[in-house]
Amino acid sequence: MTPEEFRSAGHQLIDWIADYYDRIDDLPVRSRFEPGDLTAQLPSEPPASTDSFDAVLGDLDRLILPGLTLWQSPNWYAYFPANVTFASILGELAESGLGVNGFSWVTSPAATELETLMMNWMVQLLGLPPHFVDHGVIQDSASTATLCAILAARERATAAGIPATDLVAYATAQAHSSVQKGLRVAGIGETQLRVVPHDEAFRLRPTELAAMIDDDLAAGRHPFFVCAAVGSTSTESFDPVPAIAEITDGSDVWLHVDAAMCGIAALCPELRWVNDGVERADSYVTNAHKWMGVNFDCSLFWVRDRAALTDALSIQPAYLRSAAAASGAIDYRDWQIPLGRRFRALKLWFVLRLHGVDAIADMIRGHLSMAAELDSWVRADDRFDLVAPTTMNLVTIALVDDASTRALIDAVNQSGLAEVTPTIVDGRTAMRICVGSRLTQRHHVESTWHMIGRLAQAILPG
Ligand SMILES: Cc1ncc(COP(=O)(O)O)c(C=O)c1O
Repeated sequence: MTPEEFRSAGHQLIDWIADYYDRIDDLPVRSRFEPGDLTAQLPSEPPASTDSFDAVLGDLDRLILPGLTLWQSPNWYAYFPANVTFASILGELAESGLGVNGFSWVTSPAATELETLMMNWMVQLLGLPPHFVDHGVIQDSASTATLCAILAARERATAAGIPATDLVAYATAQAHSSVQKGLRVAGIGETQLRVVPHDEAFRLRPTELAAMIDDDLAAGRHPFFVCAAVGSTSTESFDPVPAIAEITDGSDVWLHVDAAMCGIAALCPELRWVNDGVERADSYVTNAHKWMGVNFDCSLFWVRDRAALTDALSIQPAYLRSAAAASGAIDYRDWQIPLGRRFRALKLWFVLRLHGVDAIADMIRGHLSMAAELDSWVRADDRFDLVAPTTMNLVTIALVDDASTRALIDAVNQSGLAEVTPTIVDGRTAMRICVGSRLTQRHHVESTWHMIGRLAQAILPG
């Protein structure tokens, strides 16, 4: 492809993406593909010669798009959102066009310095503690950030002579599965995770945590890590970070705050309470790729003690050393697991400059008010139970029995008109409706609720 051909194909692709957003409202949210449908339509052998861009774009439209579940649809209520904005798409395009690998300062100084600056801007925008300034790094995902926190905590403990087999971690059953996975990957094992009881609003009970820590200490084990969920996945419950910090302050226990979904709500000054107590945490993560319109992947991770993280992750072979790093420049390769890294700060910079934080804050406020209205409709309808309090933009509901709830979730998703996610909350099957897509407006939520009501009527006995 020559630069001229690239220019022309690029314009066509941008047009195709813009057209996709023009028609997304009318496309089925869930792909209707059966397993094997795409494979059957594509050649099993790689091409022997090259194709025209028109042919590739035609296949993208004809073969690939129908096989996608549309995360950007205004009727997307599943999981948590993965919002994108046009500004962010352009940032990703610029990143891929530049194709740099800024794993150390010297391999692309502007990539490192823009990342540090963006993380410092985010400290201001989210009202995070000043000691997070110059202590932030962009990770690919919150799961990786949590793993890095576990690795830093493990290193701190084992460097002090504590055997890894003695280490014990704590979280409630509401914590994201990445905590379990992180413990497994870190070689500590899920058996070393204590599940702390939660209250009726699915928040960790601090007195139970303190008692469990005391029991483990008395038994000669070494409590080393607590994960507090700020907006948990199943119910958006908020663990009481200040009360947990009362227990971990001054101890050897690393307090990690997982605010993957809800931390970003602090972009609205009136919602800064979501990050209460974070100033006492050892690490904190929130995802710009969920509720901020920055394309996946862009997970914002801060640590109180930079050295604790780099002690766990820094390896210094001769070919990676530089005079700049020796004199104090940041090498982000030492803050993450892989060596190579994408220039993710670029899309964050584009979003903050082109889309603007006010537009993001207004989107979040809109989602909160739509979720509150949906919550009120659920309360007024005696066919449905709210199985958890609606704290932000997630409404978790159930019908009278698990089989009916399950059937309702399947019916909603098979309709292609909306996508929701099942979960189990304290043994009860529930439907999660997360109002968080950038394109969702009130009329989308209203018609989805009417559809849910009609489908429920057909499912409920009698
Ligand atoms: C509370 C919480 N933590 C962590 C994660 C994992 O996020 P990621 O996909 O960035 O690893 C999620 C995903 O939804 C989540 O809800």
